[in-house]
Amino acid sequence: AILFRMQSGITQEFCQQIPKVELHAHLNGSLSNKTIKKLLDRRRDLKISTAAFEKGEQRTMGDCFEMFKVIHSLVDSTEVIYEVTKDVIEEFSADGVKYLELRSTPKGLVESGMDKRRYMDAVVGAIRDYKHDNDDVIDVKFLPSIDRGRSIKDAQENLKLAEEYSISCEDIVTGIDFSGNPYTTDAAKFMPVLQGAQRVGLKSAVHLSEVKDRSDETRMFLSVPPDRIGHGTFLTDEEDVKSSVLESRIPIEVCVSSNIASNTSPPEHIKHHSVWWMGQEHPCVVCTDDKGVFSTGLSSEYFIIANALSLSEEQTLKLSESAIDFIFADENMKAKLKQIWKESKKDEVLEITFVTCLSCLDMKN
Ligand code: IMP
Ligand code: ZN
Repeated sequence: AILFRMQSGITQEFCQQIPKVELHAHLNGSLSNKTIKKLLDRRRDLKISTAAFEKGEQRTMGDCFEMFKVIHSLVDSTEVIYEVTKDVIEEFSADGVKYLELRSTPKGLVESGMDKRRYMDAVVGAIRDYKHDNDDVIDVKFLPSIDRGRSIKDAQENLKLAEEYSISCEDIVTGIDFSGNPYTTDAAKFMPVLQGAQRVGLKSAVHLSEVKDRSDETRMFLSVPPDRIGHGTFLTDEEDVKSSVLESRIPIEVCVSSNIASNTSPPEHIKHHSVWWMGQEHPCVVCTDDKGVFSTGLSSEYFIIANALSLSEEQTLKLSESAIDFIFADENMKAKLKQIWKESKKDEVLEITFVTCLSCLDMKN
């Protein structure tokens, strides 16, 4: 059996050191202040208002979507997409992430000659180059996003691209994300797209019940069903929805800071809906959503959850390991990651042995 240090409360440092899997990260929402400042400095000509950025905790979900507009005006060429994708991978890797699924909405921009295909190539190219230049320290997949705020034509194009790249870049593109402003009310039109993704063997991560009173929409999307649920904040509002999710065992991607910042969850961590789901032993994966927009990181999210649930170090490591089962990748990748977790437990034992020996020596002196 593995011995872990007995202590009250998990430290941020411990959460930083353990290996982690990140499954819900929107590329443009993940840009750090450092990257945004770099881009703003370069594009003074745009005279961008940063009012929404400066609102801090007073931000509404509307302000968050305003921030995305600002970021999108800065990320306006394939060169910038390539560069920011590498920055984001680097930052997740520095935070102890060993496997990352990045999602992003392919966009075209006539002015810079960027079309959706070039967008895809820039992200895939950055992933390949980062891995190659950094001795495979992190594995990264790319889930093209479908934005529910855009047209069905736009969604169908993205699905087609996702399908095409899942064949030509099968080691990188393995599924799709369904996201965008959750207050749009005509999401039913995207059902054929989600069904189409399933038909061609793409995995799907679907933002679901992110805001109140969307039960009909939720029931409809659950009938596909998605492979993972994003947020699921209000799933427990209706008994039939709650029990069908519990029964389905579809994992929920939990993004505490994101929900609090966008006012869909109370500020007390213990009141976050994931506490209830984890209490039911329903599979939950700790994620960031938009680490830049919500000023967080994956170790900070583990720190929040571990302390809200009073988890031990062993339980926290187990929670991060459990995410491996829900990645959109094959069994070889899962086995590779499980080996990394196994090694990290050995390191833990060695460290304890070392500390114990030191205290024995102390006693002898
Ligand atoms: P991008 O797709 O890389 O440009 O990342 C930003 C986009 O992700 C936003 O424009 C939204 O469509 C989507 N997004 C980010 N956070 C959320 C969220 O909390 N709910 C729904 N969509 C989101
Ligand atoms: Zn999201």
